[in-house]
Amino acid sequence: MDPRAFSRTAAPAAALALLVLVGGTGCTGGDTGVRGTPGAVGLRDPYFPKLGNGGYDVRHYDLTLDYDPAGDRLKGTAEITARATQDLSAFHLDLRGMTVEGATVDGVKAAANRAGGELTVRPRDDIDKGAEFRTVIRYSGTPETIIGPDKSEEGWLPTEDGGLAVGEPTGSSAWFPGNHHPSDKATYDIEVTVPKGLKAVSNGELTGERTSGGRTTFAWHEAQPMASYLATLAVGDFRVTSSRTPAGLPVLTAVDPAVAKDSAALLGRIPEVMEWGAKNFGPYPFSSTGAIVVPTDEVGYALETQSRPVFPVDQFDEETLVHEIAHQWFGNSVSPASWQDVWLNESFATYAEWLWMEDVHGTPVRKPFDAAFADDANWAFPPADPPGEEDLFGGPVYQRGAMVLHKVRQAVGDETFFSVVRGWAAKYGHSNATTDDFVTYVEVETGQDLTELWDVWLYGDKKPARP
Ligand code: TRP
Ligand code: ZN
Repeated sequence: MDPRAFSRTAAPAAALALLVLVGGTGCTGGDTGVRGTPGAVGLRDPYFPKLGNGGYDVRHYDLTLDYDPAGDRLKGTAEITARATQDLSAFHLDLRGMTVEGATVDGVKAAANRAGGELTVRPRDDIDKGAEFRTVIRYSGTPETIIGPDKSEEGWLPTEDGGLAVGEPTGSSAWFPGNHHPSDKATYDIEVTVPKGLKAVSNGELTGERTSGGRTTFAWHEAQPMASYLATLAVGDFRVTSSRTPAGLPVLTAVDPAVAKDSAALLGRIPEVMEWGAKNFGPYPFSSTGAIVVPTDEVGYALETQSRPVFPVDQFDEETLVHEIAHQWFGNSVSPASWQDVWLNESFATYAEWLWMEDVHGTPVRKPFDAAFADDANWAFPPADPPGEEDLFGGPVYQRGAMVLHKVRQAVGDETFFSVVRGWAAKYGHSNATTDDFVTYVEVETGQDLTELWDVWLYGDKKPARP
């Protein structure tokens, strides 16, 4: 999909490509005589400069996967449809670990080289700017578990009878090659074959299931653009339930039998949370909903994987359910333009919890606001400027971010605030947004100059006097 962030990175990417060309590694184009240059190795994300790749924009991922839990081996074919945003002599894909067995571009064998987390594909002929092309990567291996700087695990997490893929912020490159930056969203087909008796659950809707020769294949389709960090795959013994919300939206839940009893009651409340979300944030942006609930030792945190968030059972509580469902609007539909903008995800998801407590349990937002204000850890840095990668999911991003939203609500009043929240979700839905986009949007929509509010609550280095 067309990443808005590309407009910000296009100039430096072109400059970089030009340098490479002058350096002599550019190659002459094919029949057209166009001189293509290699796409940039990364999108210069402030936290992960090599994440994502320049020179193309992915439209669709068609993943055909085969997972063998006994050997913890994944075999995959990734068919990636993309549009070139420059004349390309070569392009990068992000892929960690795994062995690449072959690559083609538009059906013709292409050279594939690995270096670190980068896979470079060099097609026989250059690809013209604006052309849609299809690259197929065949790969296999034991997918990696990535330990983040904050010690959290992401990527592929092997479990007792299968595995779980969670990808925020960079883990999805452990199980499929792609443009793994949130600015390049795409639609997905994910087809997974597992031993008969096990299930494979992913994003979106189940479009097919067939068993032959002791193996079962599950086909999943995600019809709305998805950032790759929101792709998931859960393989194992799951109890799968399909139903519909009163509004007719499909609900698909998958629960490990060991935690089925403990999660049944809250799973039944998904329709209620969905309805509450739509009332406050506007129409739900995706074609289905649900949840994946796993034992606590399988993953240490919940994740808002698109249309079907993942929960360890010890965190499958009302507030976390509200948080992950709120992310479907904020984070999944309105996605960060870069990882610096992740506070736009977490502030809204946290504030949704506060609103739910107020609406449903009569706890005024003032209470969690005061508690967040009092905790000095939430004042360690401004929400939109985590000092390092290890701070991307720190208290200031969640709690101080939610405080920013509450200050806006106080400044503009409830009616305007909720119309701004819905307008924001509508205007930037299925797209990407920056912190600047947000500040500008709020000021334009409310007609108020909120400079002081932003200076103190969003950008300030010091904790202000208690309001
Ligand atoms: N974004 C998740 C949530 O708040 C949490 C999360 C994802 C996380 N990856 C992480 C927290 C890594 C800490 C470390 O719903
Ligand atoms: Zn969150």
